[in-house]
This record gives sequence, C-alpha cells and structure tokens, in this order.
Amino acid sequence: TDDHNGCSYETLLQTAQYIQSRIPHEPKVGIICGSGMGAYWHEGSLAEALGNKVIIPYHDIPNFPVSTVEGHAGQLVFGTLSNIFVVCMQGRFHYYEGYPLWKCAMPIRVMKLIGVEFLIATNAAGGINTAFMEGDVMLIKDHINMMGFAGNNPLQGPNDNRWGPRFPPMNRAYDAGLIHEAKQIWKQEHLEGRLFDGVYTCLGGPNFETVAELRMLKLLGVDAVGMSTVHEVLTARHCDMTVLAFSLITNVCVMDYQDHDTMPSHEEVMDVGKVRQGTLKLFVEKIVAYIAEN
Ligand code: 6GU
Repeated sequence: TDDHNGCSYETLLQTAQYIQSRIPHEPKVGIICGSGMGAYWHEGSLAEALGNKVIIPYHDIPNFPVSTVEGHAGQLVFGTLSNIFVVCMQGRFHYYEGYPLWKCAMPIRVMKLIGVEFLIATNAAGGINTAFMEGDVMLIKDHINMMGFAGNNPLQGPNDNRWGPRFPPMNRAYDAGLIHEAKQIWKQEHLEGRLFDGVYTCLGGPNFETVAELRMLKLLGVDAVGMSTVHEVLTARHCDMTVLAFSLITNVCVMDYQDHDTMPSHEEVMDVGKVRQGTLKLFVEKIVAYIAEN
C-alpha cells in the first residue's frame, strides 16, 4: 500500500487554508474539466466562462500534485457560474501519470474541506455500446471499478473517519435525482446531439484497449471506457459529496479484427472535445443553475 502520510487530514487542512486565503467565497460545486471538456485553455471553455475568476495553478498549491498531461492547463479556476460560486479543476490527475490513486483523487478531499457539496465530473471515453457515436454524451449511472478488482483503490490504507467510513456503500454513487434533472435539461434546452446513460469503467492506461479487452468489457456490461473518474467518485462518495458524472464519447471502440483503419488517438479525443465544448458548457451551466435553486 502506498504511503498516505503525504495527504493526511491535517496536511490537507493546510492546503485548504492556503486556497481559502485566496478566494472570496466557499464554492458549493466542484467541476472536473477533463479532456472532454476544456482541460485545455481553449477559448470558450467552461473554466474561462466563470465570472470574477480566481486562478490558482496547481504548482502554487501546497501538497498538490502537478498535471503532466500535455495540454492540460493544471489549475483550479474559481468563479461564479449561474450565480453561484464554483471551482473548476482544469486538468486532472491520472493513474498513468505515475501517481497512486489516492493522490489522483486528493483534490476531491481538498474540495470537500473548502466547502464543495456537489461534484460534477466529466471525461472523454471510448464508446463500447454499439449504439454510441462520436460526440454522444453518456451520463454515468454506474461504474465498474476494474482497478479495484485488481486490488487498487484510492481508499486503501488506514481510514480516517473524519473523511468517511471504512466501508462506504457504493450502490448510490451517482445521484439519481441529478441524472433525472440532467436529462430534463438536455431536452428543455434543446442541446445539440444525443444524451444517453450507461456504465463507465476506468482502466489504468495509458494505452488504449486491445480488441479482446474491449470485447470483454462489452460482455461485462460496460458502455464506455476511459482512464479517470472512478477513483474520484469513490473518494467523493466516501466523504459524502453528491455526484453527477458524464462522458463525452470521443471515439467508437473498434471491436472487429477486420477493421485495420480505425485507431484511437489523443488528438481525436481533443478534437471531439473542442467541437462539443460549447454544448457541454451550456449543459453544466444549467445543471449548476438547478443545484443553485434547490
Ligand atoms: Cl477507446 N479507451 C480509453 N481507455 N480511454 C479513452 C478512450 C478509449 N477514448 C477516449 N478515452
């Protein structure tokens, strides 16, 4: 088991105090902007659209990891969205970067300490469900913690009850009320493209999957596969945050040995993210408006 002392409750209190000294209000909502959604400082990203921004680069924050994904902005962006104060993580931490899972998910606990009650996690994912097309959006209704099956979990190690219980339930990980509301919003706002719900799984990466691996995931009931989010959600639910998560389907997984032409690539992931960013921004804005009013 990895050494958790670098991120004890007391250590993260110091991190939280530093952040609190730089922001005017407690953020109620935390939004993880992944590769699907402005992890890069694209013009028109959600983080850029916040009002009265306070930007804190990860490398300025005591005890914070630093994002190594090329193109990821690597900063917390605080500001107003739909009239409430929120925080965006612009760029997240992945297992394939070499961080243990608890470190990848450590920003969630920092969010908790500075007042965040609702987590909106976004990601880019490969579509396994054969109905999915590039550009579709999938609300995550459940996940399969593949890395957990292999004995890797961000909640491993001594449990500090100040965060949450030793054995947290995970059967209501993704808030059904928010999923329902998100679907309503998509319809009412006539957002462009198709919205589904489904089961997400996270693999360690950094390679994309083999054909046999994808076929196995399909058999297991996975609709979309990515390299993030699950450990963040485990950590968020452990400390009792309410969670909504969605995947932008940036590519359809090739599950046919005959198909020699289609190759998933990071460029494609970023391109589709860029194209869909406007729609996803509106989507999140309206979800936050709903949270603000309820
Ligand atoms: Cl095809 N696989 C994984 N693991 N992550 C992805 C992806 C595929 N497409 C976008 N992200």
